Formats: sequence, structure tokens, C-alpha cells
Amino acid sequence: MAVSNYLGVFGHVVLDHILTMPRLPVPNTTVRILGRNTYFGGTGGNIARIAARLGVRTALASLVGEDFPADYRQALERDGVDLTDLRTVPGASTPSAWIFTDPKGDQATVIDQGPMWEAHRHPIPDHTVRTAQVVHLGTGRPRHHTKVARLAAKLGKVIAFDPSQEITYAYTRTTFLPLLRKAHLFFGNETELRVAIRLAGVRKPEDLLRFVEHVVVTRGRRGSLVLTRAGGRHAIPRVPPRKVIDITGAGDAYRAGYYAGLSRGYEPARCGLLGSATASFVIEARGTQSRIPTWDEVVDRARRFRDF
Ligand SMILES: Nc1ncnc2c1ncn2[C@@H]1O[C@H](COP(=O)(O)OP(=O)(O)OP(=O)(O)O)[C@@H](O)[C@H]1O
Ligand SMILES: [Mg+2]
Repeated sequence: MAVSNYLGVFGHVVLDHILTMPRLPVPNTTVRILGRNTYFGGTGGNIARIAARLGVRTALASLVGEDFPADYRQALERDGVDLTDLRTVPGASTPSAWIFTDPKGDQATVIDQGPMWEAHRHPIPDHTVRTAQVVHLGTGRPRHHTKVARLAAKLGKVIAFDPSQEITYAYTRTTFLPLLRKAHLFFGNETELRVAIRLAGVRKPEDLLRFVEHVVVTRGRRGSLVLTRAGGRHAIPRVPPRKVIDITGAGDAYRAGYYAGLSRGYEPARCGLLGSATASFVIEARGTQSRIPTWDEVVDRARRFRDF
């Protein structure tokens, strides 16, 4: 029998190297490191792994290098992610980020997209598209996503468009609009939403509903907003975590929780709350995949706000 997934995620799989130092180096100086850690990350890896842990049948399409660590692959496998389209590109290095931080919290980041920069030169990972009901187009080159979206639309898939921070530099009106037109859902934080409005040539968030059925805007500590074409405007609260250690990856966790709700047939407002609840766990630990909740844990926190 053919594999069937609910979600097919397109996005980066990244090794995040966090280097802590007394102060960020200025040109032509050297500083001693205080500590360093490597975390599994990347928006594609984060969303796929967290969604799978929450019981969503999920495939991940991405490109890594020959140095991709076996323990990252095993972690994804253990959570049940379908890795048919996680391709190792010969001679390439795995996408990596080196995040320099000092005790004040200032940061400087160097990124290497590795083979993802040339993703459009590789064949479309069609297993992920064919087996999924919802195709999530996250970070990645617009030219590559355009090809994937064309196939997904032809096969009648639901498309979620989530360009993330790349919307601020990788997209133009010409690459953005056709993707938005093919999509059913749009995800972004407030900054990304402002850019989306400009690229779409409209005036306010509601205007994006001319193109997509759901617009999901995350607003950090202020929760999120879910707009639907059917007329819904749902303000979703944040769900309080036990402690806030590292908010990176909150957005990816939110999306995974949102899909965990959609796949179980919940309406948008409940999906948003499940997203908030999922994010509330992930921010309790350093790294974007260090504290992944189970479905029961998520529902338990979401129940403080609504019935499930
Ligand atoms: N301090 C916080 N406390 C509780 N929940 C939070 C907090 N920060 C974020 N969240 C939750 O996570 C969701 C997503 O966060 P945010 O809007 O900051 O995403 P983002 O800007 O895409 O972040 P990133 O790209 O780093 O993951 C929010 O809608 C909220 O539910
Ligand atoms: Mg984000």
C-alpha cells in the first residue's frame, strides 16, 4: 500500500552551533570561547519532528551534506518522520548556522545554506508532495518552491505558504504572488506579515484572504491571530510556559501544533491554541528541538483555555 502522510514539509534542516563569548569579536581581533553547543534545527526539521511527535504523519523534504550527523537522522526517524526525501548531496556540507552570542544577549550569525541554495537544480522531491494532504512550503528558494507548488496544485493538495524570515530578502512580487495564489494557508509573524501585505499589493491583513483561506499571524508574547475567509477573526492567547529559556523556534513549534489540530479536524481557533500550547513547551529549553511535548501534554495546557 502506498504511504500516506498528512503533512509534507519543505524547509531547511540545519545544525545550529551556539558559541558564547565574553564579547563579539571586532575585525582583526580574537576572543576566547566561553561555551559551545550544537543543536538540531532548521525550520523544516523543527516543524516535521515536532508535528510527528504530536502524532501527525509527516514527511520531510530537504537537502543535507555528507556530514549530516547520524544522531539527527535517528532523532527524526524515532519520532516517525518519513525521510524518503531527505537527500544527502555528495560533496556538500549540511546547512549550518554559527550563532555568536555574548552575555548581554547581542548576537551575530553566520549561515551556510549548503545544498539548499541550489535546491532548484535537484529533481522535485515528489514523494513528499504525492503522499501528503497538506504541503508546507517553508524556508527555501522561491524558484524551487514554485516548482513544488505547481505539482502540489496539479495533484489537488492543500498548500501552506510560510516563507518565514526569507520573505524579507529572497522574494519579489513576481515570485511571491503566484505562490500566494496557489496557497490555502499563509503563516507569518508580524514583521513577515507586513512584508507579505506589501508584496501582495494590498493594505491590511484581511486583504490576504483574497488569496488564501487562512492567515495565521504569530505575535510573540502577545499570542496569535487567525483570520479565515469564512469570516472568523480569532485572537489566540499565549499559553504560559513554566519558564522562558530560549524563544527561538517558537514559531515552528506553533505551526506543528496548528497542524496537529488541523489533522484531527479541529477548527482554526482551536488549532491556534494548540499551536500556542506547543510553543509554550519548546521555549522552556535551549535549542529548538530540546523540549518537544507529546499530544497529551499539549492538550493538557490548551485545556486551561478551552475544551478539547
Ligand atoms: N514569551 C512567550 N511566552 C509564551 N508564548 C510565546 C512566547 N513567545 C512566543 N510564544 C508563542 O509562540 C508563537 C510564535 O512566536 P513568534 O511570534 O515569536 O514566532 P517567530 O517570530 O516566527 O519566532 P521564530 O522564528 O524564532 O520561531 C506565539 O504566537 C506564541 O504563541
Ligand atoms: Mg519564525
